[in-house]
Amino acid sequence: MTRTTEGLSPELHAYVVAHSEPVDDVLADLAKETAELFPTHKGMQIGPEQGAFTTLLTRISGARHVVEVGTFTGYSSICFARGLPADGTLLALDISDEWTSVARRYWERAGVADKITLTLGPALESLRALSEEPRFDLAFLDADKEGYVDYWEELVPRLRPGGLVLADNTLSHGRVVDSDDTSAHVQGIRDFNDRLVSDDRVTQVLLPIGDGLTLARRN
Ligand SMILES: C[S@@+](CC[C@H](N)C(=O)[O-])C[C@H]1O[C@@H](n2cnc3c(N)ncnc32)[C@H](O)[C@@H]1O
Repeated sequence: MTRTTEGLSPELHAYVVAHSEPVDDVLADLAKETAELFPTHKGMQIGPEQGAFTTLLTRISGARHVVEVGTFTGYSSICFARGLPADGTLLALDISDEWTSVARRYWERAGVADKITLTLGPALESLRALSEEPRFDLAFLDADKEGYVDYWEELVPRLRPGGLVLADNTLSHGRVVDSDDTSAHVQGIRDFNDRLVSDDRVTQVLLPIGDGLTLARRN
């Protein structure tokens, strides 16, 4: 969740966005409407350069089945869905009917509604309700940070070998290295980052895109 990349000046961020795949009217309107409807939460959307990256990653990885943990008003889900082939699917997990009702409207407008299934409720329960078989090619983690390690443990067995996990906010706006910050969500991210390093089921890289985007591949 963040609309800009950490450590980039506003000018350089604008340059990065201007030299990535352009944001179309659907995503621009979604960002605008989200800011109007939910001004204190608008920063939860992934940023435009992250959106361009996720669409491209979905496409170049050949992913057909994606799961998203944390959908909000739908920005990232549209970016993933746009990278899917015609028979691709996206399972979107979120707890908020209010926020995802905006997503549902924009999925229709983006022409991707037929690819997306929304399951409302605590995402950990939704994941545990899925049989433990490798079914996903790509998983996106962007819900409550305290839950990242638990989500990870449910996601990895459900990823096919070679499947990818993308996790947002893995820099916590730089707070991961501030030892005075002992807040639960920052600690949740530190625990997640440490867990991946010690997990020999995957190979991972922490990319400083947006607020930190970790990419892991199931070996
Ligand atoms: C950072 S936002 C997701 C932003 C979204 N990926 C985007 O780009 O617009 C986090 C979302 O996680 C959801 N969430 C938080 N805790 C949750 C939980 N326990 N189970 C399911 N969803 C949860 C919130 O309702 C919120 O919509």
